[in-house]
Amino acid sequence: MLSEATIATIKSTVPVLAEHGRTITEHFYKRMFSRHPELLNIFNHAHQKQGKQPQALANAVYAAAAHIDNLPAILPAVRVIAHKHRSLGITADQYPIVGENLLAAIQEVLGEAATPEILAAWGEAYGVIADVFISIEAEMYKEAEQAVGGWADFRPFVVDRKVAESEVITSFYLVPQDGAAIASFEPGQYITVKVNVPGSPNTANRQYSLSCEPGKPYYRLSVKREEGGLVSNYLHQQVNAGDVLDLSAPAGEFLLDRQDSRPVVLLSGGVGLTPMTSMLHTLAADAAKGIQPGRAVLYMHSALSGSVHALRDEVLAAAGRIGESAKVRFVYEQPTEADRAAGLFDREGRIDAAYLAAESPADAVYYICGPVPFMRAMVEALQSLGVENDRIRYEFFGPASQL
Ligand SMILES: Cc1cc2nc3c(=O)[nH]c(=O)nc-3n(C[C@H](O)[C@H](O)[C@H](O)COP(=O)(O)OP(=O)(O)OC[C@H]3O[C@@H](n4cnc5c(N)ncnc54)[C@H](O)[C@@H]3O)c2cc1C
Ligand code: HEM
Repeated sequence: MLSEATIATIKSTVPVLAEHGRTITEHFYKRMFSRHPELLNIFNHAHQKQGKQPQALANAVYAAAAHIDNLPAILPAVRVIAHKHRSLGITADQYPIVGENLLAAIQEVLGEAATPEILAAWGEAYGVIADVFISIEAEMYKEAEQAVGGWADFRPFVVDRKVAESEVITSFYLVPQDGAAIASFEPGQYITVKVNVPGSPNTANRQYSLSCEPGKPYYRLSVKREEGGLVSNYLHQQVNAGDVLDLSAPAGEFLLDRQDSRPVVLLSGGVGLTPMTSMLHTLAADAAKGIQPGRAVLYMHSALSGSVHALRDEVLAAAGRIGESAKVRFVYEQPTEADRAAGLFDREGRIDAAYLAAESPADAVYYICGPVPFMRAMVEALQSLGVENDRIRYEFFGPASQL
């Protein structure tokens, strides 16, 4: 336990550190990578360059420190991060490295303002926060390993099939190289892919949501090719049937609540449709088993146009299996004449509050995934309609940020 005095010091210095948060964490990463270049194999370099990851880490450390006398309040947020750490294979012995470099960075950025008393208090607080992460992650590694078909870190999978789903999205069906069982997962969960891209000095890790339904003998990832993106281009252009990819066990806390009988709206933009499609398949399988009969489902997806719209027929078929209680709405921002002629979409433009109000079943729980501006617009629209925050759930396809 931290002493009252330490807690007081931490709380009184959170604002100062938060103010210099970005400078401190950017310095921290430079410092840590120069001393521990092996960690360059774990961190996402694009996130570093865009400052997203330093910001996310800074936010987390300050949020944790601000709640240092009531850590249970932030446990849900810690679990989300711990899942990502577990999927990346982060180990307990790496925490002191982060701690040491973070403290040194605080000292080097703040200079004399960082008194020995302040540094000692932060050192102690970091230890407490790190212990929370380490123990939760230890539990998660154990669970992942002990699950039927499970494993703790990375396991080689063979690309069984590679299927182009649109001009920009390609699916990879992956089966375990050892031929043994694979862990099931909750719809909404993701795995981490670890790859060595030829010509790149470090290994790269990226998360991909599972787009298939649980319980199959394979995992399916559906990957959008990002302009200038390292791993997505490698997967699209160089990885083919027969190739091997290292995968983490399924992870994540963005889960479809299958016990909930309230209506559900699956709301996605672009490649954000992957967790939603897994959820829709699961709802269809549940409906077939008589679970939550008649539960209203709306699958609403926003794409630029038909050529980049993935999994269209599959989604319609899954909704068809649910029957009358399921509805699908496709919204195209820039439909082509061919899209119009083929009647591929239900609305032209963007999803807005009025459209959500008109199409959503009453009292629905909303699951949202897509680019950050899309998610922000959806959350704002739902809030303007009076939807309470506990009916709004979302997943970031990158480091979490403020919506
Ligand atoms: C939980 C979760 C689930 C996800 N699920 C999916 C999914 O189902 N499908 C999917 O396609 N993706 C998914 N993602 C995103 C995925 O993990 C990758 O971020 C994505 O594939 C891009 O990776 P990349 O290596 O191709 O791009 P990166 O190399 O990481 O680059 C990302 C972007 O940053 C730009 N960039 C690179 N370097 C710089 C620089 N120096 N300065 C400025 N910009 C730069 C690139 O041009 C690119 O546009 C998910 C992410 C998370 C966290
Ligand atoms: C108490 C200490 C730590 C805190 C508070 C913390 C916090 C965070 C946060 C907030 C994220 C972003 C999660 C997200 O939104 O996706 C993250 C991701 C990550 N963390 Fe930690 N972390 C800690 C320790 C560590 C350690 C010890 C390592 C290993 C060296 C590590 C490696 C990573 C990596 C590799 C990512 C993903 C980076 C990316 O995708 O850009 N973290 N962490």
